[in-house]
Amino acid sequence: MIEPDKLNAEVISVFPDKVRISVDNLEDFQIAEEKLKVGSYLRIADNDNAVLIAIIENFSIEVGVTSEGSPRRKYILEANPLGLIRDGKFERGGDTIAIPPKKVEPAKKEEIEKIFQESLEENKKFSFATLSTNSSITVPVDGDKFFNKHIAIVGSTGSGKSHSVAKIIQNAINAKSGEYTGLNNSHVVIFDIHSEYKTAFPTSNFIDISSLILPYWLLNSDELQELFIETESNDHNQRNTFKESVINSRILHFKGTAEQKNKIHFDSPLYFDITDVLAYANAKNSETIDTGELYATGEKKGQPKTTQGSLNGKLTNFVSRLENRINDKRLEFLLGDKAKKISFDDTLKQLLGYGSSNSNVTILDLSGVPFEVLSITVSLISRILFEYGYYYKRMRCEANSAERINNDVPLLLVYEEAHKYVPNSDLVKYRASKESIERIAKEGRKYGISLLLASQRPSEISETIFSQCNNFLALRLTNPNDQNYVKRLLPDTLGNLVDKLPSLKAGECLLIGDAVILPSIVQMDRCDPEPASNDIPYFQLWKEEWKALDVLAIKDAWYQK
Ligand SMILES: Nc1ncnc2c1ncn2[C@@H]1O[C@H](COP(=O)(O)OP(=O)(O)O)[C@@H](O)[C@H]1O
Ligand SMILES: [Mg+2]
Repeated sequence: MIEPDKLNAEVISVFPDKVRISVDNLEDFQIAEEKLKVGSYLRIADNDNAVLIAIIENFSIEVGVTSEGSPRRKYILEANPLGLIRDGKFERGGDTIAIPPKKVEPAKKEEIEKIFQESLEENKKFSFATLSTNSSITVPVDGDKFFNKHIAIVGSTGSGKSHSVAKIIQNAINAKSGEYTGLNNSHVVIFDIHSEYKTAFPTSNFIDISSLILPYWLLNSDELQELFIETESNDHNQRNTFKESVINSRILHFKGTAEQKNKIHFDSPLYFDITDVLAYANAKNSETIDTGELYATGEKKGQPKTTQGSLNGKLTNFVSRLENRINDKRLEFLLGDKAKKISFDDTLKQLLGYGSSNSNVTILDLSGVPFEVLSITVSLISRILFEYGYYYKRMRCEANSAERINNDVPLLLVYEEAHKYVPNSDLVKYRASKESIERIAKEGRKYGISLLLASQRPSEISETIFSQCNNFLALRLTNPNDQNYVKRLLPDTLGNLVDKLPSLKAGECLLIGDAVILPSIVQMDRCDPEPASNDIPYFQLWKEEWKALDVLAIKDAWYQK
C-alpha cells in the first residue's frame, strides 16, 4: 500500500463543477514537455477504463504541517471537469463517475491531441488556433456549428480582435470541399467602422461612402422619421405631413393596378421621390384656402377672400430640415441621384458581392458615414440582408417542400465595434440598428444569417444580442465590468477561467462554446495579410524632417461637403 504521504498528487474534494487537488511538489508533478499553467489539462483516473479530463482553473498554496510536525507547503489546484475518455472515446460532461478517482496527472499530450483530432469528423474541422500551453496541438472547432450560431469576439484594444476576425474569415474563404478552382461559396459582409479590413482582404468587394449606393426609399417608417423629422420634436403636424406625402409619392410613382395602389402604405418598400415630399411640405406650409367669397369693400374689393391653411407657417422647421438633408453632400449615398435610381436587385447584388466580379467578402467601410445617420445606415443594410435570407428560404421551400437546407448561400455579418451599433442603451439614435441586429440575433439562424460581433466593451453591448451568441473568443480583457459581464454570459460553467483574461497575450484567448470540443486557452494563428492598424507611429513620424502641409487642399475637401 502506498502511504498517503508518498502520494504526490490526489483529489481532495469534488463538487459538481469542480475538483480540488492537492499536490506536494509541483516540480515533480509536471511532465517534461509542458509547464503547468491555468488552462492546462489534467487526467484524473484510477485505471484506464474511464479517464476524467479537467482544465486547471487556479493554483494556490496552503501551509500545513507534516506528521513530524514541521511546516509543509502544499499546492492546491482547482480544475473544471470537462469530460471523460471511455474506451478510447471522449464524451463531454464530467458527472458520470460514481466514485471520484484519486489519482491525478497532467494529461498526456497524445491524449489531448487525440481528443481534438478524433472528436470531429474531418470535413467539419475548422482550425485557426493552437493550444496556448502547447503550440504543436491544433485546436479545431466544428465549422458548421461555429458559423451557424452567432459568434462573439471580445477583448480590450490591442488584444488581437481584428487579427482574429481576419484570420477566421481568411480560413473560411480558403476552405474548399473539392478540387475546383475559383471561389468557394462563403459569404461574409464586414461592417468596418475604422477602415481596417481592406488590407486583409485585397480582392474583396470594397464599398465605402464614395461607392455605396443605398436607396432612402427602402428605409422603414421609423428610420425615415429619424432621418427627416427632429427627434426631439413631438410635432404631429410634421409627422402627419411627412407620412401623407410619402404615401402619395409612392402611389404616384407606382405602376400597378388600382387595387394594388390601394394597399400601398407608409412602410411599403416602393420608390418615392423625396423632392415630392419637399414640394408637398412647402405647399402645406404656405397654403391659403379660397373661402368662396369675394371682398365686398376696401382695397381688395372684388378679389376672392382666402384664409390661411391649417398648417400655414407651422412646417417651416420641417421644410428647412428636409432641405438640409437633401442638400447635404455627405448624404449623397442615401439621397443623391444614384440612390434614387438604383434598383432593388442592384442594391442587393452590391451588398452580397454578386457584382461584375464575385467576391466572398464584402467590406462596408463606414468610416465616412456621418454619425447621425450611422444607425439607420447599418439598420437598413442589415435588414436588407436579413430579408434576403427570409425570402430566399421561402422561395426554396416553396420550390421544394422537402428542402432541408434553408439557405444554400448563407451569410455571416461581421460587426466590428459592435457596441456602437447595438449598445445597452435605449437612446433613439441607436434604436434603428439595434432593432435590426437584434432581430437577426433572434431569428437569423433559421434563414442562414449569422452574426460575428467584435467588441472591446462587451458590457456595453445589448444583452439580448450577446446572450444569443453560442461561441466566444475572449481575448485579453482588463476592465472588471467587462470581465464580469463575460463571466455571466459564458455558456459553460467555467466562470473562474475568466480570471485569466487580464493576463492573456496578444492573440491569446479563451475559446468556448458549442462548436468547441474542449474549452481551451488558445493562441490564434497569425493572419496574412494583416488588417491595417490605426496606430500612428507618432514618435517615428515626429523624428522625421518637417513636412509641408497643403492647407488649401484641406480647405477644399472641407468645403465640398
Ligand atoms: N495571433 C496573434 N499572435 C501574435 N500577435 C498578435 C496576434 N493577433 C494580433 N496580434 C498583435 O496584437 C496587436 C493588436 O491586434 P489587433 O487585432 O489590432 O487588436 P484589436 O483589434 O483588439 O485592437 C497587433 O499589433 C498584432 O500584431
Ligand atoms: Mg481592432
